[in-house]
Amino acid sequence: MNGTRKLHVKSFGCQMNVYDSDRMADMLTPLGYAETGTPDGADLVILNTCNIRERAAEKIYSELGKLRLLKDEAARDGRPMLIAVAGCVAQAEGKEIMRRAPAVDVIVGSQNYHQLPELLDRAARGEKIVDTEFPAEDKFDALAAPSRHAIHARGISAFVTVQEGCDKFCTFCVVPYTRGMEISRPVEKIAADVARLAEAGVREVTLIGQNVNAYHGKGPDGRDWSLGKLLYRLAEVPGIARLRYTTSHPTDMDDALIEAHRDLPALMPMVHLPVQSGSDGILAAMNRGHTRAGYLRVIDKLRAARADIAFTSDFIVGFPGETEADFADTLSLVDAVGFAGAYTFNYSPRPGTPAAEMASQVPDTDKTERLYRLQDLITRRQNVFNGSFVGQTLDVLLEKPGRLDGQLVGRSPYLQAVHVMADEAMIGEIVPVAITRLGANSLHGEIVNARATRDLAEAGA
Ligand code: SAH
Ligand code: SF4
Ligand code: F3S
Repeated sequence: MNGTRKLHVKSFGCQMNVYDSDRMADMLTPLGYAETGTPDGADLVILNTCNIRERAAEKIYSELGKLRLLKDEAARDGRPMLIAVAGCVAQAEGKEIMRRAPAVDVIVGSQNYHQLPELLDRAARGEKIVDTEFPAEDKFDALAAPSRHAIHARGISAFVTVQEGCDKFCTFCVVPYTRGMEISRPVEKIAADVARLAEAGVREVTLIGQNVNAYHGKGPDGRDWSLGKLLYRLAEVPGIARLRYTTSHPTDMDDALIEAHRDLPALMPMVHLPVQSGSDGILAAMNRGHTRAGYLRVIDKLRAARADIAFTSDFIVGFPGETEADFADTLSLVDAVGFAGAYTFNYSPRPGTPAAEMASQVPDTDKTERLYRLQDLITRRQNVFNGSFVGQTLDVLLEKPGRLDGQLVGRSPYLQAVHVMADEAMIGEIVPVAITRLGANSLHGEIVNARATRDLAEAGA
C-alpha cells in the first residue's frame, strides 16, 4: 500500500450508476484510495455519467471544465490529479469526450470497471486511455462484493444489481447501446450479497436492473430463475424485512412475479412501472411492445393479487408525431390508474436512436406546455394518494435521525418519508405509525404503541 490517496466519485443518472460507483470505490480501497466528498485536493476523480437525455450528457462537459481548473492547480502544486469518465456517456462517446476534454486521462465503459486498477496504473504513467469495448468476461465476477465499511456507511436500505442491460430497443432510448445486452447475475451470488448486507444491519433491499423483471439468472438447480422465484428465495434471508425491485417493464410482468406480490409480505406493495404514453399509436412508434389496454391489464392483475398495491411511472411527452389527441390519451391513462407519483420528461432526441431520425418532431414549446399539464395532474394525484393516509396507520422502517431533536425519519411501504418522535436506538425497526398530518414532502405521525402506553399512563393518573 502506498499511503492514502483521495478519491472523489460523482454519480449521475440512475441507481445502477450509484451502485456501480460504490463498487468502483470498494475496488479502489485496497489500492490505498479513500473516498472524499469533494474533488478539491483529490488524487483521482471519477465522473460516472448518464446519457439518457441531452441535458444529462451535456452536464458532463461543464463538470469537466471545472475539473480541468482543479487539475491545473494541482499540477502547479506538484500533485498529479487523474480524471476518469465512466458510465453511459463514456460508453456512447468516449473518443468524443477525449477530444473535447483533453484533461481526461481515462475513459472506461459501463462494462469495464473491473479493469480500472490496471487502467489507472497506465494513466499514472502518462497514457491516455479509452476502454469501451464490451469485454468477454462478466464484470460482476471480477468486481468486489459490497464491503463491510461501505455497507455500514450506507445504512439500513441497500441496492443490489441483479440484472443489467436491455434488449428492448425502445426507439427513443440509448440504454441498449450504453449498457449492452441483458445479463442476469446467478441466484446464489445475489443471495450471498443480500445475506452479507443483512448481517451488516441492512433491513431493506432494492433489486435493481434496467429491466429488472426480465431477470433470468441461473438458479442453484441449474435452471433459469425468474425475478418472482428469486424474490421468494431472498425473502428467506434472516434480517431482511423489505424487498423492492426497480425498474420493471410491463411486458415482463409474469405470473410468478404477480404471485410473489400476493404471497410475500416482505415484498413492498409499490411498483415502478414506466408506461411512457397512454396512446396506442405512440406506444407502437416507441416500440414498447404493449398497448394501453395491455398496460391496464397488468395493473389490474397486480391489484387483484395485492389490494393495497400502488404504482409509479415514467412518462415522455412530445415523442415525434404526438398529437394533442395522443396527449389526451396520456392524461386519461393517469386518471384511470391513479398513480402515486411519476417522473415526467420532455422527449429528448438521442444520437443513434431511431426516434431521433423520425419526421414530425414536436416543437419544444408544445412539449413544455404538455409537460406542465401532465405534471400538474400527477401532482394532484400524488397529493390525493398521500392525503389518503392521514388517520390511517402505516408500517414505517425507521432509518435515521430527523431534523428535530428526538425525531426520526423512516419510510412507509410506499417510500413516503415519515417523521416520528422516537429514540435513536429504534433505527432499523419497523413500527406502526398513526399518520396525523401531511407535510410538504413527507408525512408526520406517532408510533402507535408509544401512544397507547402514554394513553394508559394518562388514564391511570
Ligand atoms: N428501463 C426503464 C427505463 C430506463 S430510462 C423502462 O423501460 O421503462 C428512465 C426513463 O427515462 C424512461 O422510462 C423514460 O421515461 C426516460 N427516457 C428515456 N429515454 C428518453 C429520451 N430520449 N427522452 C426523454 N426521456 C427519456
Ligand atoms: Fe430503454 Fe426501453 Fe430498454 Fe427501458 S425497455 S431501458 S426504455 S430500451
Ligand atoms: Fe443514465 Fe445509463 Fe442509467 S443512460 S439512466 S446512467 S443506464
